[in-house]
Amino acid sequence: MSFTLPELTYSYDALAPYMSRETLEFHHDKHHLAYVNNGNNLLKGTEWEGKSLEEIVKGSFGKNAGLFNNAGQHYNHLHFWKWLKPNGGGAIPGNLEKAIVDGLGSVEKAKEDFIQAGVTQFGSGWAWLVVKDGKVIVAKTANGESPLVHGATPILGVDVWEHSYYIDYRNRRPDYLKAFVDNLVNWDYVAELYEAAVK
Ligand SMILES: [Fe+2]
Repeated sequence: MSFTLPELTYSYDALAPYMSRETLEFHHDKHHLAYVNNGNNLLKGTEWEGKSLEEIVKGSFGKNAGLFNNAGQHYNHLHFWKWLKPNGGGAIPGNLEKAIVDGLGSVEKAKEDFIQAGVTQFGSGWAWLVVKDGKVIVAKTANGESPLVHGATPILGVDVWEHSYYIDYRNRRPDYLKAFVDNLVNWDYVAELYEAAVK
């Protein structure tokens, strides 16, 4: 299969003031598109042509850095757009909330640890809530890496590459992460991925 850029399911203005039209135009239309185009070019003629995106991400890890970086970022961004929604944040669906409390102590602690993972990811990368061995835990990865290659299933991720926040927050990454958690997260989609991961 080849990679394609998904349409956003909300308007470019819908996430303001927490994430601006300008950020979404650059992030979705230019950065994500570049991962799609580069990934498609690098996929040609490899053993992973015709495989699913998850198989490509897992298979190319440690074997084909160029393809892995672009396929990994395509996978991460496909989900990232769905992890955002207008008027996000708020209540967490019951089953997921229980799993978060079981794994991380409390919802407040989970949010703090998730934000802290994003703040302390040195350079570009992602902070995550993942399901590993049936438990919800916090993780962080560098560059385009995904928890998929560490035996975990991502259920929530936040992009901490500067292209995700520099237009709106300049160097204030902690403020961006707090706004993401408080005002942007689509917990229904996180719950959907959680249910699929533990099925
Ligand atoms: Fe990004």
